[in-house]
Amino acid sequence: MSTSTLGPLGRWSPETWRTRPIRQVPAYPDPAKLAAMEAKLRRYPPLVFAGEARRLKAALANAAAGRAFVLQGGDCAESFNDFTADVIRDTFRVLLQMAVVLTFGASVPVVKIGRMAGQFAKPRSSDTETVGDDTLPSYRGDIINGPEFTPESRVPDPGRMEFGYFQSAGTLNLLRAFASGGYADLHQVHRWNLGFVERSPLADRYQDIAHRIDETLGFMAACGMNGENTPHIRETDFYTSHEALLLPYEQALTRVDSTSGDWYACSAHFLWIGDRTRQPDGAHVEFLRGVKNPIGMKVGPSSDPDEIVRIVETLNPANEPGRITLISRMGADKVAAKLPPLLRALRRSGQNVLWLCDPMHGNTVSTSNKIKTRNFDAILSEVRGFFDAHAAEGTWAGGVHVEMTGQNVTECIGGAHRLTEANLGERYETFCDPRLNAEQSLELAFLVAEELKARRGSGGRMPAVAAQ
Ligand code: PEP
Ligand code: CO
Repeated sequence: MSTSTLGPLGRWSPETWRTRPIRQVPAYPDPAKLAAMEAKLRRYPPLVFAGEARRLKAALANAAAGRAFVLQGGDCAESFNDFTADVIRDTFRVLLQMAVVLTFGASVPVVKIGRMAGQFAKPRSSDTETVGDDTLPSYRGDIINGPEFTPESRVPDPGRMEFGYFQSAGTLNLLRAFASGGYADLHQVHRWNLGFVERSPLADRYQDIAHRIDETLGFMAACGMNGENTPHIRETDFYTSHEALLLPYEQALTRVDSTSGDWYACSAHFLWIGDRTRQPDGAHVEFLRGVKNPIGMKVGPSSDPDEIVRIVETLNPANEPGRITLISRMGADKVAAKLPPLLRALRRSGQNVLWLCDPMHGNTVSTSNKIKTRNFDAILSEVRGFFDAHAAEGTWAGGVHVEMTGQNVTECIGGAHRLTEANLGERYETFCDPRLNAEQSLELAFLVAEELKARRGSGGRMPAVAAQ
């Protein structure tokens, strides 16, 4: 099958996006080189299997129905230079810790999705960057150009797509090994603790949960359930995701699933459309409407509720549960005003969507020294506002989407160690947006677990059974 017909928008194929207006597109100087790279990638094996994407879609449908919570997190932008086992392991480990805090603290199954193994392309607010007297094209993520402020490095290079593909494959391979090879075994919860988190004010709270899990596992073993006969104790499901921004790359990895005959984007299980590229008639919406993966879309304060409904209908004409995740990123000061009208519009439309809160992108500020940061209090405040809005509308606050790392960075202000502007210079390592460090991520998980527990029985739907 090479084409399919989807609703009034007409014929879709993996290249119909090319006929639509496109934003955030890199200016590749050599179209022949770009075409050659696309042809090369089209012959490479897919990174994920369609069956896995369907499984995630079913898990997201469960979350949309109020029976699970989603944790999506990872780097703002993965980096070619930071491609090491330690970086991957540390991010995975913090996500596991956060999931344990949520699962155990709030008795809710957690769907785990990394912003990993392909999160390389970045939308930018300006096409150029000026330092002193020099103006160069903006850095658009390692899969497009380099972060160094030199003319050579900023030229978009299609060769970077191949490196991005192989780094994604290597990352995914390790994540799969961690998820099913014993690292994620619940008997290991004590060992997931990172050195610097052990010295943090949160360590006791985490260790308390770890002890209780040990006791529970001991009880279950006495009843005959152990890692041998109950795989959920020994392994976990872990999915990958990124922003589907670089469409030549995404198209090259789009394949027909032989079991269903449907098209799937095979660069990751879950792809999302960014807040800057969600034009109803634009290229990104066009591309994603035709692939069967679960799809996310960021919705910021400029979202017009009727327009968002229209895009959701375009992306999901059959109103399939689990297909659409709306990721709200309003900012702490706007969430109370901007989110409820969206929740109402979607409810009125009858569209089945899952709601996540991205408390990062609406809360980016610049310090007096022009360093990009985010205040942990604003992040927590947006999460609370998200829960409040859902409680008031009777909808399910289905998850969080965060930029975080397992490294001990100092990029966001606040948190248990009360990082201040003065600390930002110590370990500010991101090439893009400021991330929560491991400790701040864990602190956020504790807060979310409390919110989930507090809402039990009041407002919003709550999960019925914690079946993983
Ligand atoms: C991002 O998730 O890194 C991003 C750019 O987000 P948004 O599209 O919400 O601005
Ligand atoms: Co970001």
